[in-house]
Amino acid sequence: MCGIVAYIGQKEAYPILISGLQRLEYRGYDSAGIALLNGDLNIYKCAGKVSDLEAFAKEKNKKGNIGIGHTRWATHGVPNDINAHPHTTEAGDLTIIHNGIIENYGPLKKELSERGHKFQSETDTEVLANLIEHIYSQENVDLEEAVRIALNEVVGAYAIVVMAKSTPNKLIAARKGSPLVIGVGDNEFFLASDATPIVEHTKNVVYLNDEEIAVVDINGGLNIKTIQDKVKTPYIHELELKLEMLEKGGYDHFMLKEINEQPNSIKDSLRGRLNAQEGLVGLGGIKDYHKRLVNADRIIMIACGTSWHACLVAEYLFEDLARVPVEVEYASEFRYRNPIISEKDVVIAVSQSGETADTLAAIELAKSKGATVLGVCNVVGSSIARSTHAGSYTHAGPEIGVASTKAFTAQVTVLTLMALSIAQEKGVLPKSEFQKILRELDLIPEKVKEALKCDEQSQEIATTFQDATNFLYLGRGYNFPVALEGALKLKEISYIHAEGYPAAEMKHGPIALIDEHMPVVVLATNRSAYDKIISNIQEVKARGGRIIAIVSKGDKIIRDIAEFTIEIPETEEPLTPLLSTIPLQLLAYHIAVMRGCNVDQPRNLAKSVTVE
Ligand code: AGP
Repeated sequence: MCGIVAYIGQKEAYPILISGLQRLEYRGYDSAGIALLNGDLNIYKCAGKVSDLEAFAKEKNKKGNIGIGHTRWATHGVPNDINAHPHTTEAGDLTIIHNGIIENYGPLKKELSERGHKFQSETDTEVLANLIEHIYSQENVDLEEAVRIALNEVVGAYAIVVMAKSTPNKLIAARKGSPLVIGVGDNEFFLASDATPIVEHTKNVVYLNDEEIAVVDINGGLNIKTIQDKVKTPYIHELELKLEMLEKGGYDHFMLKEINEQPNSIKDSLRGRLNAQEGLVGLGGIKDYHKRLVNADRIIMIACGTSWHACLVAEYLFEDLARVPVEVEYASEFRYRNPIISEKDVVIAVSQSGETADTLAAIELAKSKGATVLGVCNVVGSSIARSTHAGSYTHAGPEIGVASTKAFTAQVTVLTLMALSIAQEKGVLPKSEFQKILRELDLIPEKVKEALKCDEQSQEIATTFQDATNFLYLGRGYNFPVALEGALKLKEISYIHAEGYPAAEMKHGPIALIDEHMPVVVLATNRSAYDKIISNIQEVKARGGRIIAIVSKGDKIIRDIAEFTIEIPETEEPLTPLLSTIPLQLLAYHIAVMRGCNVDQPRNLAKSVTVE
């Protein structure tokens, strides 16, 4: 997720763009750039934060009352000066900023290269710039028509602003799948990914809709049409939200925003990797190592914290679906216990930040013993992404809240795709079963949206248990790692002690803890162990424990024995973690808020543990 901002009007553009980018830095912050038009087209861009861009542009010509700016969250191409936006072409007439993913950039780049276009960067955005320029110069059409024709050839998500020396008095903007807001001032326009850079200049905004193109000009003209060339009437809204609220998308905390982003972040994790109709699944980033994975004697997974829980889910997925032996290791233990590793092993390192010291060290140990090491990271170009032999990005977008939520479900999504692609290659999963899971995986973003509707109910339950001193989380099978994750969510943001346990394991000790003061969250969605989990619930109930049950929609049995029951949509059992984790995230969030805790920055914690 990147931040884009643009200005056209009577004022100097540079200060407006820089302050706009600072407002958008929460959306992405690994590189930044600005383009200004003042007769010349001046582009200044570099790796690093907006402050690094300011330092870079300090002595440069920053004149111009039309300009575009971008702060990047890398998806294609590591964060560096060349991959930073804005992008231009060899001709140097037009320049573009982009937030989104052009899925078919590969074939487009190949075709444009064959027509003589030269590329500097690894990005999909530079391909789009060349496609627009190719049409603009070959078809002899105006810039907005060139943009419209180009976007009809594009597959994927975009929010773009295009500026050209040859059309100095206008900006062309368009969106599909990524947000774009137009602030309407007096003979001036402010364009941005969201309203945060706009609200200090004007409260009047137009929200561009998917597949719409906007043309704004220096004389105050605003015209909108669809990429099918249908004219649309702009509808001006008046902004009510405060600036601070806007950075959080109207949510009270980044964590709640990120919990609610999961339908989209999971969709982004699946984008270009799953075609359920065709029965296709694949992760391009590890295609060169696919055979190694398929033929691996075992897979060793290394991670910390929530990422370690994602690895535990993967253990069930790889063994259940792909019949590959898996060992899950805490990176901090793995690196010191003199493990037995050989070149026949495939190691998968999972990390949101890509900077966790223990995981990095475990990677180096595995590589030194000849193992193949793959990465699953959220931050493009992070240390772990660069130290592994290959990997797949989760594309969850920046996760600002210290407690990991959308990164966890994005990791599980990518690991599910990996397990399915191995299963398909090995032919160990009946085709009908494989197809059924693929079709269900395609539906998960919508089902997550449905699961999020338990927010009010989880808030009510939080009211009852906000003063609890202990929680127990129980789950079986695929839900056991979710029980661990639910316990971690609660303890790290509410400071209530919580433990996750395999439900059957409870009678081997933890049952001694059960009394009327002990809330017990039971994940009871499994079909395969349903009767067993009911027995576990009865065991807790018989000792006065207070049951909060997470059940599949329509469950009639458990609602009669549990004190509280939260329903989530039905799904194929291997995909359950993507849904059963949602109510646990919300429960932890609401309890922490009621306890007055700093939800986004809990005490003693850091978003990335870059030290041992
Ligand atoms: C999870 O909510 C925590 N913030 C923490 O356990 C985190 O998952 C762990 O530190 C690993 O971080 P990483 O995924 O960036 O490697």
